[in-house]
Amino acid sequence: MTNPAVDRAVALARAIPKAELHIHIEGSLEPELIFALAQRNGVTLPYASVEALRAAYAFTDLQSFLDIYYAGASVLLQAQDFHDMAWAYFLRAKADNVVHAEIFFDPQTHTARGVPMATVVQGLASACRQAEAELGVGSALILCFLRHLSEEDAFATLEEALPYREHFIGVGLDSSELGHPPEKFERVFARCRELGLHLVAHAGEEGPPEYMWQAIDLLKVQRIDHGVAALQDPLLMAELAHTRLPLTVCPLSNLKLCVVRDLREHPLKTMLDAGLCVTVNSDDPAYFGGYLNANLEQTVAALGLTEREVVVLARNSVEASFVSDSQRASLYAAVNRVVAAFELKD
Ligand code: HPA
Ligand code: ZN
Repeated sequence: MTNPAVDRAVALARAIPKAELHIHIEGSLEPELIFALAQRNGVTLPYASVEALRAAYAFTDLQSFLDIYYAGASVLLQAQDFHDMAWAYFLRAKADNVVHAEIFFDPQTHTARGVPMATVVQGLASACRQAEAELGVGSALILCFLRHLSEEDAFATLEEALPYREHFIGVGLDSSELGHPPEKFERVFARCRELGLHLVAHAGEEGPPEYMWQAIDLLKVQRIDHGVAALQDPLLMAELAHTRLPLTVCPLSNLKLCVVRDLREHPLKTMLDAGLCVTVNSDDPAYFGGYLNANLEQTVAALGLTEREVVVLARNSVEASFVSDSQRASLYAAVNRVVAAFELKD
């Protein structure tokens, strides 16, 4: 069944320039590249083939995904591996009209295996430079602490990363949410704030609204990653509408990790209707069935989002980015040019 209004909104969603603000670079590692890097590095994988690995991507919750995601990352050993992984992401991002990406990386996943921090950061940073120069895609890196590890481990990771401070703009908090509330990391986030780093945290993906309040009040984050649990707390919805603290929502991730049963039940439209600064992102696109445009296309179709709502999502992604005022103005201008080309009125 075709619906011309939905078709137009999908076409606009594909074409419109946007920022991606919630992408774990290790989650962009496609099975083909996992096998190629395993061969290059002499790593033995517990899967016989690309198909066998892909067949294991049937997740029941966040933890069932994380177990396989950390196993996939074990093939990354050299700076060139990190570069190749990020470059493959940038090519996909460019194809989806992503003009700016703020990219998470999980250094503890690598340093725990004996990979030096310098290898991780320098491999990623060189791909970011190449993306700017050759594709015109801007980017920045955000270092994530693994919340299933201790705050002491996070402090040690921060110390190890500080010699490479120029290569990352902020810190985040990811991995297993339940049982690891933001309050566990209050001191290390305070230290990062003193250092002038941007602050974000995953909260309200599987965890309760209380974890989102902690991220706001204790960690003093500037964005929340996921945040779909906000729907359970009217006071929190009112606060988010008032402050416009951005939420980086990931619809296909929520579907694949069984946070929602069906995309038609996804709360994104309710959040937009409530005036929240929500953005759409891919989270771990190699594992969840699609990059940014796939997330937008499927969500637009499932929720019947309008062209106007697609424009709001693109503008929200610019509003929520950690870019300079002049970069933000040029990102808005790029959005406006496509809005004009689609003959949409402001
Ligand atoms: N949630 C928590 N940790 C993660 C995720 C996620 O969606 N992706 C990669 N690490
Ligand atoms: Zn995430």
